[in-house]
Amino acid sequence: MKIVRSVEEARAVCRMLREGGRHLGFVPTMGALHEGHLSLVRAARRDCPVVAVSIFVNPTQFGPNEDFSKYPRTFDRDRELLEKEGVSLLFAPATEEMYPGSATTFVEIGELGNKLCGRSRPGHFRGVATIVAKLFNIIAPERAYFGQKDAAQVAVLRRMVRELNFDVDLMVCPIVREPDGLAMSSRNAYLDSSQRKAALALYRALCRMQTLADRGERNAATLIAAGKQVIADEPGLRLDYLEVAHPETLDAVPDVSRGALVAVAGFLGSTRLIDNVVLQGVGRAAGPS
Ligand code: PAJ
Repeated sequence: MKIVRSVEEARAVCRMLREGGRHLGFVPTMGALHEGHLSLVRAARRDCPVVAVSIFVNPTQFGPNEDFSKYPRTFDRDRELLEKEGVSLLFAPATEEMYPGSATTFVEIGELGNKLCGRSRPGHFRGVATIVAKLFNIIAPERAYFGQKDAAQVAVLRRMVRELNFDVDLMVCPIVREPDGLAMSSRNAYLDSSQRKAALALYRALCRMQTLADRGERNAATLIAAGKQVIADEPGLRLDYLEVAHPETLDAVPDVSRGALVAVAGFLGSTRLIDNVVLQGVGRAAGPS
């Protein structure tokens, strides 16, 4: 596995990797890798003859009071894991390499950037869209892999790729969970044991809502009330939001008959975790044969 730190070298290696028309798969990450990240790498390895991964803790997607400086950085372990997965290129630039001087060009994503996590993290998705656009321009992958864990991020990036005509296929992989159901996250490392237990209420709330929907409940407000009750019963967890939304526009939907994204975010102390589940729409009755 080649490890490169500069944009110029990354471009040169990617050009070489793509020689002979080989498709390049790309997995952007912020490191502190876990099985969720590795599931994306494995999907990329299955689909593509060569795979590049980036590790970059992107300052422009963190708010001023967020955890940029304490975000876990475990480079040596990450490198070993990626080596074992058969990754061809690890791009791990320094902040100054990606943002030399003060950057003035950003990808604006409009209203979509103010929904779900964007509402509690102003500017977050603008930072995400900007760094992913930069990485796409450097790596120029045929396919890029993202986790359903960050459902709003997927919606933002899909829109960006469509509207800015990026020549890349976005592939979305399912959420990888701990055995008890907690969605894997680099931020789980911040939790002490009582917070770790309380965090599970996020998933419990989603499961409760899924069960009610499976039993025929269509009303989003009723589902939300049931989910909020589960969270209220867990004193260690402070709800940020629990919403039933359209998976592409991220707008709230009143009724889940056509399917919906149920997204939740909550705080355990100062640690903010997110999770989601997609409710399937009710199958259409078969038409006349
Ligand atoms: P990061 O949080 O490191 O996540 C990198 C990728 O791994 C994202 O696509 C995320 O959705 C996916 N992922 C994280 N946890 C997962 C889980 N439990 N199951 C499945 N996939 C999971 O997301 C980012 O970094 C950044 O915003 C980035 C896109 C790299 C831009 O800076």
